[in-house]
Formats: sequence, C-alpha cells, structure tokens
Amino acid sequence: MTTLPPLLDQCGRPVRDLRISITDRCNFRCVYCMPKTVFGRDYPFLPRAELLSFEEIARIARLFAARGVQKLRLTGGEPLLRHGVENLIAQLAGIPDLEVTLTTNGSLLEKKAAALAAAGLQRVTVSLDALDDAIFKRMNDADYPVAKVLAGIEAAAAAGMVPVKVNCVVKRGVNENQILPLARHFRNSGHILRYIEYMDVGSSNGWKLDEVVPSAEVLRVIGDEFPLEPIDANYPGEVAQRWRYKDGAGEIGVISSVTRAFCDSCTRIRLSTEGKLYTCLFASEGHDLREMLRGGAEDAALEDAITRIWQARSDRYSQLRMAATPNLKKIEMSYIGG
Ligand code: GTP
Ligand code: 5AD
Ligand code: SF4
Ligand code: SF4
Repeated sequence: MTTLPPLLDQCGRPVRDLRISITDRCNFRCVYCMPKTVFGRDYPFLPRAELLSFEEIARIARLFAARGVQKLRLTGGEPLLRHGVENLIAQLAGIPDLEVTLTTNGSLLEKKAAALAAAGLQRVTVSLDALDDAIFKRMNDADYPVAKVLAGIEAAAAAGMVPVKVNCVVKRGVNENQILPLARHFRNSGHILRYIEYMDVGSSNGWKLDEVVPSAEVLRVIGDEFPLEPIDANYPGEVAQRWRYKDGAGEIGVISSVTRAFCDSCTRIRLSTEGKLYTCLFASEGHDLREMLRGGAEDAALEDAITRIWQARSDRYSQLRMAATPNLKKIEMSYIGG
C-alpha cells in the first residue's frame, strides 16, 4: 500500500477528527441549542431521503481514515434517535486504526449501551448540565429527569465504554450553581466531567457574551473546595484542558472555546446529516458530498474533493469572533453536530 503525504490545511493543520451528524432531530430542546422560543417543538427537520445512508457515511469515513483521520465521533441532534445506529457503528468499527465515539444526551443510553458497545463503540460523551432536577428540566425543556441520564452513564461504563466523559455547558444565571454539585457527584466516579463555555454557535440561542461563565471562574469555584492542579493533554490539540484533584479523586476538564480559543490546533472536520462537509463549527457554507455520492462518483473523485476542501481550509472562527464576525449567518449545532 502506498503511503499518502499528510493532508494539511492552509495553516498547516492535519485532519484527525471526523464528526458526523447522523440526525438533526432531538428529543430535548436545550436552551443553548434548540430553544423552543424559536420554532416551538416543530423544528424544520430534514426529510428522511435527504439523510446520508449508513453505507454512504461508512464510505466517507473510510476515505477520511485513509487521509489521516484517527477518531470518528457520531453526533446529532441526538444520534441514538437514528434507527439502527448500532448497525452503522458495526460498519465503522471495522475500519482499521479508527476510534469510534459518540456524543449523546443520554436519554436512550441505559437501553442501548450494551448493544452499542457490542457493535464496537469505544467511548461515549454524555451531556448533563445540572444535578438538580428542576434546573436540568429547565435546561432540556423536555421534562427529562437527571436520574435517567445518570443511569445511562452507569450503563455505558458497565458496558466497558470507559472513561465516560460528561459535558456540562455552563450558562450564567441558569446553571452556574450546579458547578459544585456536579463536581462533588463525579469525584471518585472514574467519569470525567468537563465544563464547556457557552458558545455563540448557530443563531437561534440568542447568545450574549455576559451569559458565558469563563472556565477560570469554574476552576476557582471548584478549586476553593477541592484543590486542583493542571495535567498534560492526552494528545496534541485536545479541546479540554485537564485538571486533577490534588487528593486523588480523579480529573475534570474545561473547554474554553470563548475565552481561550483553540483554533491553532483544530484538526476537526464535520459531516452534516445530509452530507455536507464543514471545515469549521462556525462555517456558513458546506461542501456537498451527497451529490457526488449519489451521482456515481468513484472513490478517487471523492478523495480528490476531500483533499481539495481540507487543503483550502483557513478557518479559525473562535480566534476571530471578537473581531468582525458577529453578523455571519451561522448554522445550528443540532444540524452540524457538537
Ligand atoms: P475527546 O477528547 O475524544 O473526548 O473529544 P472532545 O474533547 O472533542 O469532546 P467533545 O466532542 O465532547 O467536545 C466537547 C465540546 O467542545 C463540544 O460539545 C463543543 O461544545 C466543544 N467543541 C468541540 N469541538 C469544537 C470545535 O471544533 N470548535 C469549537 N469552538 N468548540 C468545539
Ligand atoms: N455552546 C457550547 N456547547 C454546546 N453544545 C450545544 N450547544 C452548545 C453551545 N451553544 C454542546 C452540548 C453537547 C454537545 C452536543 O454540544 O453540551 O455536549
Ligand atoms: Fe439536543 Fe444535544 Fe442540542 Fe440538547 S444540546 S437540544 S440534547 S442536540
Ligand atoms: Fe476549529 Fe472552527 Fe472551532 Fe476554531 S472555531 S476550533 S477552527 S471548528
């Protein structure tokens, strides 16, 4: 087999992570992502025929793996709502040297964890923004209780998908009082809790800078009760900064996409539910691969398209956001995937 030269973008960044949104639907209406105030419950979801099939997704994943992608993350919307998701995972898990992971709201995890692990899913990241039921329900706006998500997390760990990562988006005035209860709960659990700064992704959440709780504040709040010390990244370009409890109770992470942007080391590309490639979470336009797939394109032509798209990439939105970009048309996180 010939080895291809590394695929680099305009800033010298390699492509390492492919994030694939497999449905734009979700059973939650998180206030920072799909707020009901915009479309009520009836978001304008894509019709089924518009979605990439599992075979189409697996074909693209294979081509990216050949170009250097090492990690694949299934997202949504809520990826576990896609019928037969474990069959897709089984196809993807067969691609050599590729880690297969998934980000979920946890609502279906208790039921599906064993089947997902058996299909070859290696790890999961579960979103959980509060430990208090009333606050969590206010955030998911779907009357969904905390206990079921916690049961999903335990089921994932029991099925061997460890460590489980737990993502908490912190929004000022909404759940900042949950920072400590969540930290206390997940200390000594083996799960890795990560606090995410609320981002100006999409246009429907009405983002305001003063609603962002900076990671420095999160670390101060936790550090005052449980002393922390920084630890090295697991790999270059890791999104979360890692901290460990000095008393040995495990680690936490902070994801500072607003106060400390990490575009310089961004190796991520995203494939939307309908087969468009986005080179940045904040890109306003995608590159349509579905038309090529359904028009009978050979692998070589697809590979060439992927190469050209990545080589042309110069995105670093988060580093520029404070400059001149606030009025850009932005696509929704539920469509492009976290
Ligand atoms: P692992 O290290 O494998 O666990 O993956 P990860 O750190 O990429 O975690 P995950 O995919 O769960 O991402 C966590 C959160 O970081 C996402 O939900 C986003 O809020 C944020 N994030 C991830 N990727 C990007 C990115 O490319 N740009 C920006 N601005 N934020 C991102
Ligand atoms: N800011 C930060 N993170 C977000 N997510 C969704 N919307 C936002 C936002 N506006 C995160 C969720 C989840 C992942 C799918 O994306 O918390 O972990
Ligand atoms: Fe659904 Fe995740 Fe968006 Fe919440 S953040 S509405 S769970 S896709
Ligand atoms: Fe990557 Fe764009 Fe996020 Fe920067 S803003 S880290 S370039 S996805």
